Amino acid sequence: MQDIRNIVVLTGAGISAESGIATFRGPGGLWEGHRVEDVCTPEALAADPVLVHRFYDLRQAALAGVEPNPAHRALARLDAGWDGELLIVTQNVDDLHERAGATRMLHMHGELLSALCTVCGAREAWAGALPEGAGCGACGAAALRPDIVFFGEMPYQMERIEAALAKADLFVSVGTSGAVYPAAGFVQTAAYHGARTLELNLDPSMGSVFFEETRIGAAGVLVPAWVDEILSDV
Ligand code: APR
Repeated sequence: MQDIRNIVVLTGAGISAESGIATFRGPGGLWEGHRVEDVCTPEALAADPVLVHRFYDLRQAALAGVEPNPAHRALARLDAGWDGELLIVTQNVDDLHERAGATRMLHMHGELLSALCTVCGAREAWAGALPEGAGCGACGAAALRPDIVFFGEMPYQMERIEAALAKADLFVSVGTSGAVYPAAGFVQTAAYHGARTLELNLDPSMGSVFFEETRIGAAGVLVPAWVDEILSDV
């Protein structure tokens, strides 16, 4: 793999499953009888803000009881040891990549430990329950909401992601079902621009057909093995 310089890694809920965070579309995907698709929307926030805030408050509180697993740590090792360009794009709103030590990464679907002002658009670090109508540190409006990209909203940093995909030599997807766009389309964008494509997932995903290679197994096993492979090839 000596011709590989630029890598983009996309991660999804599957990479955090072995840390104890439930995936979205597996068993137990319902929350108090609601489908996530019915809670994580701007319409749900407008109709029942208490419910939506509680959903994210509980998920944020649950972070205290989980730790990064070998897959997060392996990507942090890649981040520290890779001389070429690397961008880890996570769809996850947990902070396990950062806690493992990754720095060349972004959260395209937002973060549990952040709040977003619906008036001025400022984002601020937020830990603990987020009361409805909490005040924005930048503009003062009583308008903070969870800093999460809801269904129907535009993911963050798409220009930066598209630019990285366009020059990627290798695109690797870890633990994502390929059900939610635009992330589900990244493999095709990267391949169109000439990247090799590799999927690491517990089950064949909806996007498997688009990857040159799919390895089936747990992220905690497959990711460290792949990172060893790519770093030893340098
Ligand atoms: N190792 C690797 N893959 C795993 C593991 C594991 N230990 N456990 C589960 N998986 C795989 C599943 O087989 C599945 O294909 O991870 C995938 C998880 O899929 P989803 O639950 O659909 O999660 P994700 O693809 O991240 O969802 C995308 O949907 O609800 C929205 O915004 C939310 O970011 C999320 C987006």
